[in-house]
Amino acid sequence: MKFKIFSILGVALCGFLAAVATTIESEESHELQSRFAPKSYLFDPLPKLTESSPTTRYYNFELKVKKLSPDGFERPVWTFNGQYPGPLIHCNKGDRLVINVTNNLGEPTAIHWHGIYQRGTNWYDGTAGQTQCPIPNGVSFTYNYTLEQSGTYWYHSHFVTQYVDGLVGPLIIQDPDDPYYHSYQEDYLITLSDWYHSSSASLFLQRVTPHYRGFDPYPDAALISGRGQYNCSSSAAGSHCNPNVTPAIYNVQKGKKYRFRIISTSAYAHFVFSIDNHPLKVIEVEGIPVKDVSDSIVKVLPINVGQRYSVILNANQPITNYYIRANILESCLDLKDYSINSNSSINYTSIGVLHYLGAGRNKPTSSPYIFPLNYPISCSGLNESVIRPYEDRPAPTNVTDRFLLNITIIHNDEDDIDILGINNASFVSTFGNPTIQRIMRRENFADFEKTQNVYDYDTPHGCVEIILLNPLNAFHPFHLHGHSFWLVASGTGIDPENLTTFNLVNPVIRDTVIMPGKSHMVIRYLADNPGVWAFHCHIEWHRELGLVAQLIERPTEFSNQSLPDFVRELCMQYDSSKKQKRSTFTLPKDSMVKRM
Ligand code: C2O
Repeated sequence: MKFKIFSILGVALCGFLAAVATTIESEESHELQSRFAPKSYLFDPLPKLTESSPTTRYYNFELKVKKLSPDGFERPVWTFNGQYPGPLIHCNKGDRLVINVTNNLGEPTAIHWHGIYQRGTNWYDGTAGQTQCPIPNGVSFTYNYTLEQSGTYWYHSHFVTQYVDGLVGPLIIQDPDDPYYHSYQEDYLITLSDWYHSSSASLFLQRVTPHYRGFDPYPDAALISGRGQYNCSSSAAGSHCNPNVTPAIYNVQKGKKYRFRIISTSAYAHFVFSIDNHPLKVIEVEGIPVKDVSDSIVKVLPINVGQRYSVILNANQPITNYYIRANILESCLDLKDYSINSNSSINYTSIGVLHYLGAGRNKPTSSPYIFPLNYPISCSGLNESVIRPYEDRPAPTNVTDRFLLNITIIHNDEDDIDILGINNASFVSTFGNPTIQRIMRRENFADFEKTQNVYDYDTPHGCVEIILLNPLNAFHPFHLHGHSFWLVASGTGIDPENLTTFNLVNPVIRDTVIMPGKSHMVIRYLADNPGVWAFHCHIEWHRELGLVAQLIERPTEFSNQSLPDFVRELCMQYDSSKKQKRSTFTLPKDSMVKRM
């Protein structure tokens, strides 16, 4: 398989220097961007932010479907301003973001800011059916929130499986007080993603076809910063495929140090990331700087859906070109030959180039690090000892509210298919009646349907503990909205009476954690952010199949606040758009809306 990739690269690398600073951004996106719109950023170091902070930063995002060929294969891509990945949001800690989203997709949407706490602004969390109604086609909605955090985040659609079709982008918050701020000269950004040639709606519809017995859809490509190498000879007759996509190329200068921020925007695949000849020193996990310990230098970095890491690369190798590699671990995809798209001709390794200034145009001849390395369980994350918070932050011990959540397969008898849920309840979004409004109306928790998977806790200054059990064979990356959590225990086995020894001293703090098959984990967080927060598996197919809990944090206090008027109005707009839906909207082919 490796040889196949190399021959494709031989062609793709011709003249790659000329294309170093180009992006796949479209020309017409320029005219749509206001003067506040972000500049293109891919493959350039992040610009230095000079404004005195805190300041307010304005962004205009127009969402539209546009044909693009990230891996060579052309397909309609759901985009922010015609770009994939979406524009860079780049700001300082303490800044306010005002992001105007205009939906011209032809179907509803909602945009979530992954990892952002949204303290006091739960209604801007962007979770359709939970914190807001979807934004109908043709409507604009403005998100407006202040950032108390710093580090590496991303944004994506949180309406059905829409982000898998391209609605993702990076959100980077600088902090001059970052302990590593002076440890590198330039700051780069890399997104990793699996990629699909069919729309997510058509893939998901196959997944929920009555009597389906396979697993989740197979990707067609792996992308590094929106670039991949598809073997065009496998593409169907009549499709457009460009075999010469320029790979992702990052320029370095010998003797300098570089921060690389790595974000997994995948739908499903577990990645292992590496740069030949360059060990990487881990310095940040999801906004939290981590300790400089002897084993924080890694050769390969496992990264799962929704996770982020920053690493420092020391450009101290001979001046030449080196491969950057993003491997989808095939053994971590649930294999079944009758799974959707299982005959895909994916290259499991996507390749980019680390180019030393002064090196020639020759393609790299570097060889990969050998892996798997000694990860204890297959498809597991980074060794935890590597990612202890920089400042000791002991986990809270005064647990006031405790929940036991069990990941379950649920057989849907009507369609004779297996779906997913928590404690035997599969979550169903109620788009037109979002949970946030029901909480504001002080609805009785007893009145929430079983399919709402509501868990509420009301202790002021409380501390929540969640024990999550994964009795299934497959891994699940779990993400909590509105908080970072302490991962106080994790390991094999699913007996709640027999958990791994707790680490309360200096456990990992993050917002997305991978649970390998047949394992448990225990997380704790402070109930310091009243609101409605999703807790879900970030494999998009699993989230859409119902692997979601809704955590209702301090409803008594929360319902004393009032929703901004335009958040309410959005629901009215959504309501009336539903009535007109069939007559006025031209839905994109395969729109997910057709099944609603
Ligand atoms: Cu990035 Cu609810 O997720």
